[in-house]
Amino acid sequence: MRSHFEMNATLQFSGEITTEAQAALKKLIEDSNRVHFWKGVPKGVTDPAEIGQITGIPQFGKNSVDLSFSSGPYTRVHDALFRFRKQVAPVMGRHRLGLRGIEVNGYRITVSGDFPEGFHSPRLPFIRESSLEDGTLTLVLDVSESDLENKIPDRLVRLVEEKVQAATYGGKGEHWDLVFESGKKPRYSDADPTAEMVKRGWIKHSSARGQWIHGPQSVQLFRAFEKIVLDEIIGPMGFSEMIFPKLVPWDVWKRSGHAKGVYPEIYYVCTPKTRDPSFWEDIGDYFKVTGEVWVEEIKKRIDGPIGGLCYAQCPPFWPFLQGETLANDCLPARIFDRSGTSHRYESGGIHGIERVDEFHRIEVLWLGTAEQTVQIADDLHEAYRHVFEDILELEWRCARVTPWFMAQEGMIDTGEPGQECGCGARIGTMDYEAFLPYSSNWLEFQNVSINGDKYPKGFSVKIQSGADCWSGCSGIGLERWTAAFLAQKGLDIENWPSGVAEIVGELNELFKFL
Ligand code: SER
Ligand code: ZN
Repeated sequence: MRSHFEMNATLQFSGEITTEAQAALKKLIEDSNRVHFWKGVPKGVTDPAEIGQITGIPQFGKNSVDLSFSSGPYTRVHDALFRFRKQVAPVMGRHRLGLRGIEVNGYRITVSGDFPEGFHSPRLPFIRESSLEDGTLTLVLDVSESDLENKIPDRLVRLVEEKVQAATYGGKGEHWDLVFESGKKPRYSDADPTAEMVKRGWIKHSSARGQWIHGPQSVQLFRAFEKIVLDEIIGPMGFSEMIFPKLVPWDVWKRSGHAKGVYPEIYYVCTPKTRDPSFWEDIGDYFKVTGEVWVEEIKKRIDGPIGGLCYAQCPPFWPFLQGETLANDCLPARIFDRSGTSHRYESGGIHGIERVDEFHRIEVLWLGTAEQTVQIADDLHEAYRHVFEDILELEWRCARVTPWFMAQEGMIDTGEPGQECGCGARIGTMDYEAFLPYSSNWLEFQNVSINGDKYPKGFSVKIQSGADCWSGCSGIGLERWTAAFLAQKGLDIENWPSGVAEIVGELNELFKFL
């Protein structure tokens, strides 16, 4: 894709621009076009059309001058403007003139290239007009000087390129490469485990969408899995327990990248405009009289959303380290969190206990140098393999897939090799999948990821030695483990492998419904 930029700007000065001052300014324009705007441009680039230039004749008003800028991809018009602004002060200072302000009167970007069918231009407040004709997208912008300082035009061009890439790759961006497949294991069921659990009163649907109430029997199995994870993996590998927040403010998602694309799946969180009871009295009264909650009116009395409920579990840990430099001897650091639920608005996708809006997971997280991070991921793979092979006796496989953070940010996985550490390990996610005899599908029940320096960078975390800080994480889904295990082994304990059956012990049949 090729981009071209055009801009008109008015520079306001503190007094009248005399003929001598005009001459000085014209000279500065020439020098800028010939020298200043060429600084930092790659050697092979020689065509001035590629570079920021002040074009046409400067139009002088009494205290002001109108300038036209144009550029290709190098020293883009706004960079040229700011470089010019820096030079103007000393030059005009000699004529007792100070720069009082800059007004951007027009800004136009054209991007030419192969626009795929179905491409649509971003809809944003800065874009006054947009049109796509003959492979050229024209964006007319409404931008201020400070928008230009914030590099809005550069980000728009990048956004357009990303959208083109997304539309070109479509759904093909998801990767899946098999890494390991276990052998066959004894199967004792071909029923849907959720339906079976409901039949036996282990779980009941709650009144919220995609949410279950887990009875004692279901929780016994959850806790047995937790104990196995603690005894076989988390304990021996030396992970320490922490509690991560479950309400995630925008600031965390800005740094984690979720702010780029997680909106359709968030459970949003709002706060009352005030906690003054008199402000809310009629809302309660309305319910007392009608038996209905006055939702329309509540919407008017809340602020936010201030963020959302826990989505990926590890991002809200990172403010604990934000801005810190970590001592070499505390690394690698290994932690985990099992303090609460994750929430995703799954819409049409809800199914059984395995695809729900509220779920429980142990999130395992580690960080250190690249080598340390990769080593822990390898050790985890080994520990998981032992658990699924020797204790749960599952039919399972694992596959390299699009990194979870890319998927959650709505980024396209083009399959280009990611960042590699010294030992050649690639950043990315390994999904663990279990076979579901009742549907002949495979269910992703957990993952292990090497996230590279993404999180340490996003939250400004450094290592004392100066080495790059890397991190990894692994989400162990308890509903998913349960669905996978029961789909293969059924609900009768006598068919379960002893390593699970012994921990569960006798099922607690607390309720009897008449
Ligand atoms: N944070 C990772 C995810 O959301 C692992 O739990 O998939
Ligand atoms: Zn994570």
